[in-house]
Amino acid sequence: TKIAVFASGSGSNFQAIQQAIEDGKLDARIEIVVTDKPDAYVVKRAGNFNIAVFSFVAKQYASKADYEQEIIDTLKEHEVDWIILAGYMRLIGSTLLSAFSNRIVNIHPSLLPSFPGKDAIGQAMEHGVKVTGVTVHFVDEGMDTGPILSQAAVEVVDGDRSATEARIHAVEHELYTSTLQKLFKNEIKLVH
Ligand code: GRF
Repeated sequence: TKIAVFASGSGSNFQAIQQAIEDGKLDARIEIVVTDKPDAYVVKRAGNFNIAVFSFVAKQYASKADYEQEIIDTLKEHEVDWIILAGYMRLIGSTLLSAFSNRIVNIHPSLLPSFPGKDAIGQAMEHGVKVTGVTVHFVDEGMDTGPILSQAAVEVVDGDRSATEARIHAVEHELYTSTLQKLFKNEIKLVH
């Protein structure tokens, strides 16, 4: 299964996916990393694994449709089947959604539908929940709204954001790779 990983930041989920592939736990190949932040740490990580990177600066394009079309052309060249979002901080537009219909997956650091959008961990701590978690879901036109593929709960460490974050990231790395493996092997049934 040929995949593209989209990321805007550190890329620890990208690295966990690539590591799972190398460890034989995920039957896939990351053909390319796509980023809207040419200086993001994920670019360095991709280089360490000799994986191609397509980076773009959104404001250099007239519209979202324009940069998404360029992304599509690049993904077609690399014969990519699935788009895996891993900390990609832009809403996917109709251009990409229709080109990769039901082939775009995201990971979000909360138990959706609670705490969608930015800083889900901060939102959860602010609300005072005792349990939060991680969700892997299909991407639709909304913000963190698509059909849910898998979830895992994580206990909040009272008043300690960075410890909570560390727990969430560890669970993300495990849940994303195991969910993708099931998805690519057709082992997940959706309710909707
Ligand atoms: C993760 O928490 C992911 O759930 C969210 O963005 C973060 C990306 O982290 N969508 P990283 O760049 O993979 O380290």
